[in-house]
Amino acid sequence: MATAVLGLQWGDEGKGKITHLLAQGASMVVRYNGGPNAGHTVVDRGVKFGTHLLPAGAFYAGVTSVLAGGVVIDFDVLRREYDEVARHVGAKPRLLLAENAHLILPYHRTLEELEGSGSRFGTTRRGMSPAYRDKAAHVGVRVGDLLEPRRMAERIEWRLELLRREWPKASELEALDPGELVRSQRKLAEPWLESIVDASDVVGRALVAGEPVLFEGAQGTLLDVDFGTYPYVTSSTTLFAGIGPSLGIDPSLVTRRLGVTKAYQTRVGEGPFPTELEDGVGAALRERGGEFGTTTGRPRRCGWLDLVALRYAVRLNGITDLALTKLDVLEGLPTIKLCTAYRIGGVETDRFPLSGDRLADCEPIYKELPGWRGALRPASWSELPAAAHRYVAAIEETVGVPVTLLSYGATPEDTLRRDL
Ligand code: IMO
Ligand code: MG
Repeated sequence: MATAVLGLQWGDEGKGKITHLLAQGASMVVRYNGGPNAGHTVVDRGVKFGTHLLPAGAFYAGVTSVLAGGVVIDFDVLRREYDEVARHVGAKPRLLLAENAHLILPYHRTLEELEGSGSRFGTTRRGMSPAYRDKAAHVGVRVGDLLEPRRMAERIEWRLELLRREWPKASELEALDPGELVRSQRKLAEPWLESIVDASDVVGRALVAGEPVLFEGAQGTLLDVDFGTYPYVTSSTTLFAGIGPSLGIDPSLVTRRLGVTKAYQTRVGEGPFPTELEDGVGAALRERGGEFGTTTGRPRRCGWLDLVALRYAVRLNGITDLALTKLDVLEGLPTIKLCTAYRIGGVETDRFPLSGDRLADCEPIYKELPGWRGALRPASWSELPAAAHRYVAAIEETVGVPVTLLSYGATPEDTLRRDL
């Protein structure tokens, strides 16, 4: 059975841990959206990694990792993390790259700096939106172009010419040489020049054969470019359906859609966040949850779990079941709140608005539940404290899908599983 692991919040839900856990039984692990803006924390045999592009399949011998066409690749980042993980596992992981995936080139980062979207929107400054924009504007460079250096240089030359017209005073752009850029990108991509494939064919065949293919989502539903809190979103789709256009496969072949949510809410970067706690409780969640960005090191904003948003994300993705992560971070709180509705202009609603600006006007309405004491170290579901049980049940009832994975720590051992 094929499974997709999807973030249901503003990213950082614990997708890395969950994908790493499930990757062990997979034949293939496929990243299908975003790029090095992602930061997936994986603890593999006691060693902690923050991966940005490398799928979690890389930690297991015999599992093939794939970067699909919908991903944008920064080879500088990919090479560094690939070499690091290869040293750790003692072998070179099998990694295939989709021929139609786009490259993030150094000028994409420069452009993001020139435009100032890093500070305006709190982006990860990885060149994401300039790279996706170039793709849509027909001026991008794709992985397959690495095999045709002359054509690749021509494309870059044309792109630089346009950029210099737009930014005549930018000396960073002046200094760039297309031939040199092609050489350096080819050098970085050297380990995979023979692993450039038509990913729709490779992954599509595996799906049709019924192989256990695992899809590693990046970001989360609330950061989706169309259905997230626009304009405070990322530049690509983060939804389950994005698997289709990213790979050229029939997404209905992916029957399990495992949504990942933290037991509370976080957000990094700018944008509305109705349940944000700017008090001691928020600070305690940040400290205890280690809520600092894997990619940027920024402190994450923390708050109570927003079930209006979660139900919306479950609906948009056709989620079949949930992985609830970081439940341990709530230990010892006398009471815990769950946001079950919003009040906007004096009217109560349980609908998540399609615009970030409207969300900013929403006030949360909470249901209060008792907390529990003591560390969660349950060997089975029945050993969970009654209050923790009630908390999980309240989430399941409101969003309408079961929690099948419960995570209460960073390592793979700190997980409870329940069959669907
Ligand atoms: P993972 O996969 C959390 C956020 C940025 C910013 C907005 C736009 O680890 O969950 P971008 O650089 O993508 O143009 O920034 O999106 N963002 C993430 N936040 N986790 C992520 O990935 C994110 N990827 C992007 O902080 O608010
Ligand atoms: Mg992250």
